[in-house]
Amino acid sequence: ELFISKDSMKPVVSITHIFPDPALNRLRERFEVHYNDSGQSLSAGELQNRAAESDAMITYLSDRIDSEVLGAAKNLKLVANYGAGFNNIDVARAREKKIWVTNTPGVLHETTADLTWALLLGIARAIVPADRYTREGRFDGWQAKLFLGHDVYGKTLGVIGCGEIGRAVARRAVGFNMNVLYCQRHRLPEAEEHRLNATYVPLEQLLKESDFVSLHVPLTEETRYMIRAEQIAMMKPTAYLINTARGKVMDDRALVEALRQGTIAGAALDVFENEPELTEGMTALDNILIPPHIGSASHATRDIMANLVADNVFDALDGRTPRTLVPG
Ligand code: DGY
Repeated sequence: ELFISKDSMKPVVSITHIFPDPALNRLRERFEVHYNDSGQSLSAGELQNRAAESDAMITYLSDRIDSEVLGAAKNLKLVANYGAGFNNIDVARAREKKIWVTNTPGVLHETTADLTWALLLGIARAIVPADRYTREGRFDGWQAKLFLGHDVYGKTLGVIGCGEIGRAVARRAVGFNMNVLYCQRHRLPEAEEHRLNATYVPLEQLLKESDFVSLHVPLTEETRYMIRAEQIAMMKPTAYLINTARGKVMDDRALVEALRQGTIAGAALDVFENEPELTEGMTALDNILIPPHIGSASHATRDIMANLVADNVFDALDGRTPRTLVPG
């Protein structure tokens, strides 16, 4: 049974943060939409109120949908996360309460792989410090040793986590004639390994042999802090570490220390251990790139994600099983 708003006689859909207009308009045609367009995240108490009053909630990585929030739900049928990751949601509790949880798989991996490559190339060739140097008016003619970086072409790329994003990152390496190593819990089918020209290796070997190590695992109990000082120390002093997955997969303090010491050449992080806070010392380093979690941030992809979120809401409130339930 739907929780029909007394005012509009329509089911209530809450959206906890800024949401793209085309999908928002689709939802507004059918539902009473309670939209937080303040640009600020809702507090825990506000999330509980939204859970209590809604038939479906559209949530973000920055919203902790924990046992208390889910406990406040009365008629909530769906928590539709606007993103591929769903580590912000207590999925087990949602299942207990018979609330569906969906994410947005299959639509953002190429865009996130593009960003990963932008970071990889950007950090290897010191694009940001070099750009700053030019803007500061310090360029006074070509020099043989200005901003020397490391080659990408022909090097070894280590992909940790070869799901859809990891595979899209590996696929791009073919054009750079790279050697690709990967590790994850299960080996890929042989045909897929061939297509990607990728070799399955243990984590330790990947860390030791790669010139670029890129993280693409979801955040789970198994992956939490899988990259610490000990793992960073296994990498080559000329190697780069890229994280477009989740901050808590890494110990950022250990990374800052390693970058200070020159244990590795550089890093690029699109996500942070204590996001949105940065780890002390990060901004003082020149060999790190730190964009603000923009992996899937292209105009087209964010619209496609939002439409998939809306499709899940339509499914759930029309009595169908939503199309992209989270796995597990
Ligand atoms: C994702 O899609 O998982 C992004 O990181 C935002 O949550």
